[in-house]
Amino acid sequence: MPTEELKAQILKLREERNAIILAHNYQREEVQDIADFTGDSLELSRKAATIDCDIIVFCGVNFMAESASILSPDKTVLLPASDANCPMADMVTVDTPRELRMNFPGHDDVSYEFPEDFTLRSMKERYPGVPVVSYVNTTAAVKAESDYCCTSSNGIRVVEAIDADRVICVPDRNLARWIARNTKKEIITWDGFCHVHDRIKAKDVEAVRAEHPDALFVAHPECRIEVCEMADHVTSTSGMLRYCHESPGRKFIIGTETGLLYRLRLENPDKEFYPLRRDMVCPNMKKTSLSSVLFALENNTQVIEVPEDIRVRAKRALDRMLEIL
Ligand code: 13P
Ligand code: SF4
Repeated sequence: MPTEELKAQILKLREERNAIILAHNYQREEVQDIADFTGDSLELSRKAATIDCDIIVFCGVNFMAESASILSPDKTVLLPASDANCPMADMVTVDTPRELRMNFPGHDDVSYEFPEDFTLRSMKERYPGVPVVSYVNTTAAVKAESDYCCTSSNGIRVVEAIDADRVICVPDRNLARWIARNTKKEIITWDGFCHVHDRIKAKDVEAVRAEHPDALFVAHPECRIEVCEMADHVTSTSGMLRYCHESPGRKFIIGTETGLLYRLRLENPDKEFYPLRRDMVCPNMKKTSLSSVLFALENNTQVIEVPEDIRVRAKRALDRMLEIL
């Protein structure tokens, strides 16, 4: 079906079914175009908690749709790309250690070994009484075992708001190190990472800076600490949108998934944006297409639900995060 016809069908069904389409900033351009709201993880969680509709079509990855369902259990949450996962979210489990070594197709320079016999529960036993802050990029089960959630835009503020000198941050070692650099509290880290951001090295920043010496460099906190330390600003995807919009600068190097460049260019036609590396592409974020959105709306697939006992405990961690900001 031609693109315009697909879009028209989606908008018609959206109306008929009283649905709202939410899209993450990394989604394909045409998916962002049909979304009612595009944002970062925090903005999308806030929207999901307050939105008035019967159906939320979540164009993103699994943990995002799960969070929407946790916050809005009375709504039907649909994830159009049924296999859109975030590998980082699978790098920590509650009580069953994984044996697997994780590889990332197309990113052969990275792999992840699950720590032997080590789970979130065993970490909590090792550090009794230390609050756990889980990045929103986690499963509902991990959120349910956590005291707070955080996103890339509020990690430092959440940790600062907790009444404790030591905090456990899972699963992203890079976000945890960035938080540690910006707080006096002791941060206990897990060894997870985002394979899209963690592959970037200081030499990549040097190379792109040599090409664009007068550009400002903004980095996502999922990047390695040495990359974050080279940046003019470190923030979430929507934080980047705000920073680039408000900055008097004209040129920017964007240290995150390339999907963000679409909105940056659309909203700032007089400015120039360069990807830190062209291959900063999250394969899972690109799995959603207009066809899959239409299919989801037509067939009510794939419905994301969280078992009630897990949902209630996971919601507590998300609510505590939303209360801080
Ligand atoms: P934010 O949009 O919240 O910065 O998150 C980035 C990300 O990698 C989501 O998976
Ligand atoms: Fe997960 Fe990284 Fe993709 Fe975000 S960009 S969904 S953290 S793999």
